[in-house]
Amino acid sequence: MPHARITGVGSYLPDAILTNADLESMVDTSDEWIVTRTGIRERRLAAPGETTSDLAAHAALRALADAGLEPRDVDLLVVGTSSPDKIFPSTACITAAKIGAACPAVDVMAACTSFVYALHHATCAIEAGRARTVLVIGADALTRHVDFTDRTTCVLFGDGAGAFVVQAGDEQGVLAIDLGADGTRGDVLEIPACGAAMPASEEVLAKRFQFIRMNGQEVFKFAVRVIPQSVKAALAASGLAVEQIDWLVPHQANQRILDTIADRLGLPHERVFSNIATTGNTSAASIPLAVDALYTGRNLHPGSVVGLVGFGAGLTWGYALVRWTKEAR
Ligand code: COA
Repeated sequence: MPHARITGVGSYLPDAILTNADLESMVDTSDEWIVTRTGIRERRLAAPGETTSDLAAHAALRALADAGLEPRDVDLLVVGTSSPDKIFPSTACITAAKIGAACPAVDVMAACTSFVYALHHATCAIEAGRARTVLVIGADALTRHVDFTDRTTCVLFGDGAGAFVVQAGDEQGVLAIDLGADGTRGDVLEIPACGAAMPASEEVLAKRFQFIRMNGQEVFKFAVRVIPQSVKAALAASGLAVEQIDWLVPHQANQRILDTIADRLGLPHERVFSNIATTGNTSAASIPLAVDALYTGRNLHPGSVVGLVGFGAGLTWGYALVRWTKEAR
């Protein structure tokens, strides 16, 4: 059976920075509250007219260049996103056209767990012999769905994209993946309207149902309960122990969630990567953005064991255990 390994990494953040001070002038909040409760100091905003596929295309081209490949070498393109440019065509198709890839292209929608789900699809296709080179992208312009009059959500989210090139090979890069979903808890974190269940209308706009709604405390409790379980399940499947994880890269949702997960796993905080202070929660983009930061910071080496942790609306969760096979860039 061919194995899946990561051969290229790239990411992209839009230029515009929205600081906590900027938010202080928009809603009743403070830099002190946001930093203490979340760890976030600033986040990026997609430029007017810049869409999720634009962010995805930038990250994808960087990942391909890192792998020494051209867009025509890709035989499957998977985009994880919850802020697609349009309901259809898929953001994957639009991204493929923007970068000049001519291959099957599909979106995966599992909210902030989308990247781990997309990596799972890529790994399955490679291990089944159905693809050799897969471009896996996590991209979100979630601030387009944020209500900037709602202080409980607008301080959290930012925009960005990250991508992996995943290729077939003899070396096993993706060691194990554990995925889960609990659809009975969909109302904990949702965008209620503008899908087929509640199409856009004046009433929707008046009630602001086109924006993200969240029960923050429920999401917090869910994440710190389910993630340690998922990490342990994937470790058991791969025969590794928690001490053998060199880097845990959790979805960057809240620094307190990251710290609690580390404590519950008995992992030193310095082995749990965080760039949340400067990115905020970039949803599907957060894991590949974080991995690219680790990689370009020369913190990943052949043999490094990296755990990628996603969780979010659905409710969904996922954990991918990866052995790094690339030289530091
Ligand atoms: N600025 C100032 N005060 C705020 C605020 C803000 N931006 N947002 C909420 N508050 C207020 C609340 O109104 C509440 O006031 P009250 O006590 O007078 O009622 C108080 O702060 C505490 O609110 P609470 O919701 O209990 O805070 P918290 O400690 O749970 O932190 C979150 C809120 C959202 C930061 C936290 O629950 C969280 O991060 N949850 C996970 C969310 C997440 O990660 N979502 C995405 C997952 S993919």
